[in-house]
Amino acid sequence: MTVRKLAAGNWKMNGSLTALTEVEALAAAYPEPTCDIVLCPPATLIRDIVQRAGSRIGVGGQDCHARASGAHTGDIAASMLADAGAVAVILGHSERRTDHGETNELVRAKAEAAHAAGLTAIICVGETKAERNEGQALSVIGAQLAASVPDMADESNTVVAYEPVWAIGTGRTPTLDQIAEVHGFVRRELTVRFGKAAAGIRLLYGGSVKPSNASEIFSVADVDGALVGGASLTAGDFGAIIEALQT
Ligand code: PGA
Repeated sequence: MTVRKLAAGNWKMNGSLTALTEVEALAAAYPEPTCDIVLCPPATLIRDIVQRAGSRIGVGGQDCHARASGAHTGDIAASMLADAGAVAVILGHSERRTDHGETNELVRAKAEAAHAAGLTAIICVGETKAERNEGQALSVIGAQLAASVPDMADESNTVVAYEPVWAIGTGRTPTLDQIAEVHGFVRRELTVRFGKAAAGIRLLYGGSVKPSNASEIFSVADVDGALVGGASLTAGDFGAIIEALQT
């Protein structure tokens, strides 16, 4: 099955109004992209980026609350992201799992809230270095998938991002064989659970993707795109990754 590839940018806690020039440059460079492009800036910039990015670049949040509204100071509901023009939201990123103690069960509840608001949930999974060294990468990822991905997941509302924790922001990446092993495993696990529909759920690789390694990573089977952190902050680097995905 051929799926439309996806380049998703995770700006994390970076970016201010001055970054809008990067968005405008990206939108000008890719007026008719042959892959999907989603930028996930801090929530404060979502509305501005929706206005600058044009209709070809989607905008996403980096987290949402599991509840629809209420007394949750500092949190943002999925419907509020949608109201600001977002089409997607990153959930269960390892930095949120670490910084905020997010569990698989909470990630699943957030994904259900995202789906209810009409957002695509980009659900992150991935092992730590210690877990990989102990030969537990696949069992950890399997458990994360089983407990974080909601039953209503399908190709229209869910993307899974494999992000080895030790590769995020470190400049280190797994070997292509390791990426192939995990992506093949994730596809099989999703197929066991969702049947044929699993073929359309996009699987992103994330962790130190940059212009110099994007092409080889995209050549790996079952890699349907990338979740890009640092290299998504400039139109030049993110554009080069988009180009690697388009070829
Ligand atoms: P990185 O981050 O590309 O800067 O390694 C990826 C991510 O955390 O999504």
